[in-house]
Amino acid sequence: MNDLLTRVKVATYDELEPQIGQPVQINDHRIALFKVTSGEIYAVEDKSPHPKGGVLSEGLVSGHYVFCPVYDWKISLTDGLVQAPDEGKVQTYKVEVLDGEVYVNL
Ligand code: FES
Repeated sequence: MNDLLTRVKVATYDELEPQIGQPVQINDHRIALFKVTSGEIYAVEDKSPHPKGGVLSEGLVSGHYVFCPVYDWKISLTDGLVQAPDEGKVQTYKVEVLDGEVYVNL
């Protein structure tokens, strides 16, 4: 395992539409990028932890949560936790915005 973080440029800040998920593939990571209405950007694994594995970048965003498009699980974009009564967690990735470019740290 490589413990060093790799910073990868994935988008420009302006091209990300608020509340519209954007899928990005980096090596074997499928990531969903979200710009929330307050302007922060979050990156989470683009797959619901539910066995059906819904594609979160196609989900509805509300505040700092995304709702899986398949069975509507509510997942926090800040820590990846599935909200009760459901359970689970998706991987989250650290995002940085530098000079109008968006970077994800793997
Ligand atoms: S696939 Fe079941 S909640 Fe997303």
